[in-house]
Amino acid sequence: MCYLRTTHICNMPIIDVGTYQVHVGDCWAPLNQLIASRPQGKLLVIVDGNTRRHCLPLLRQKLERRDLTIISVPAGESFKHIDTCTRIWQQMLDAGADRSSLVINLGGGVIGDMGGFCAATFKRGMDFVQVPTTLLSQVDASIGGKLGVDFGALKNGIGLFCNPLGVFIEPAFLLSLSPRELRSGYAEVIKHSLIADAAQWERLRRFTNLDQVNWSELLTPSLLIKQQIVSADPFEKGARKALNFGHTIGHAAEGLALQSLDPLLHGEAVAVGMICETWLSHRLLGLPSDQLNDISSYLVRLYKPKPLDKNDFPAYLELIAQDKKNEGDEWLFSLIHPLGRAVINQPVSPQLIVESMAYFNQLIS
Ligand SMILES: NC(=O)c1ccc[n+]([C@@H]2O[C@H](COP(=O)([O-])OP(=O)(O)OC[C@H]3O[C@@H](n4cnc5c(N)ncnc54)[C@H](O)[C@@H]3O)[C@@H](O)[C@H]2O)c1
Ligand SMILES: [Zn+2]
Repeated sequence: MCYLRTTHICNMPIIDVGTYQVHVGDCWAPLNQLIASRPQGKLLVIVDGNTRRHCLPLLRQKLERRDLTIISVPAGESFKHIDTCTRIWQQMLDAGADRSSLVINLGGGVIGDMGGFCAATFKRGMDFVQVPTTLLSQVDASIGGKLGVDFGALKNGIGLFCNPLGVFIEPAFLLSLSPRELRSGYAEVIKHSLIADAAQWERLRRFTNLDQVNWSELLTPSLLIKQQIVSADPFEKGARKALNFGHTIGHAAEGLALQSLDPLLHGEAVAVGMICETWLSHRLLGLPSDQLNDISSYLVRLYKPKPLDKNDFPAYLELIAQDKKNEGDEWLFSLIHPLGRAVINQPVSPQLIVESMAYFNQLIS
């Protein structure tokens, strides 16, 4: 069942997601209304060092409430773990937060996932809203209610499903984002097209230089795909697994790189994962080789990935064995075939995973 409905105010869409709405563009009036409609509890804003500097001034300017408690944590995936949560919970406690409080997560996917997790668990749950500030979090991470933190190399190993009261997307936040971060977020835009919209893939593959892209225009089509999928399957029992295309091997690459001196951004790791998993889609499901070549060469051109260290292959397999999609002894992947449609629950042997990584290495050599 799909709850998706869109309306437009000033050409900016509001996307209904069952219990909450995603406001794209004209988001400040609805956020102020939501805050005003609640009991006058504490208003906490979780930021990292970068969003404190680049995004908090605009939030302060736009919010009618002035009495904000700011909780600031260091930026980056390497701080997305339980020790940082302890610091956040302590600051919530010090600020006198309780269940009448509202948390605003102002940041990328790390702040959204970790701030949401802290809010959803503090005193058995405080309300929160997502104000995503990276492309990746605007098109993907802020929607769907998945919250959590990493556990060692196990990406998002600890967490829960809990929806925000609303998602408020201000495209202007993207102006301060680095080209590398924009490109990382774009991997999820590409993924959405490959799993659900072949016509969109045809449009995207013409972008050879991301400077040409009008990011605001890409937000809504991508959000609609994400929303259609999560609305049909909020707890990832079935159809939602489609969103994991590129993420099984991608998460392993991200997890391993996290522990190295050269960490990969989430989208960069997903680009690697999509190349390997497109090869698996070709090998196991018969995705035509010209499409495999088109997708792989586009991703290689754009992301210029480094080879995967063969000595790490066993560690990749160990991480993939922990993947949340697996059932019993079967390692299950979300693949694509035909292009624009995902096929979930595809068993893949360790041998083929290694072959897909060898394909990747040979492609970029
Ligand atoms: N919950 C989900 O469904 C879901 C989906 C996809 C990804 N994720 C998670 O999202 C995370 C990645 O998200 P991300 O790429 O947004 O990472 P991020 O939150 O680390 O943000 C990337 C960098 O950009 C900075 N930044 C954020 N907004 C900025 C702005 N407007 N201007 C300048 N700098 C800014 C941040 O401080 C950080 O250094 C991963 O942890 C991933 O697991 C979650
Ligand atoms: Zn992702």
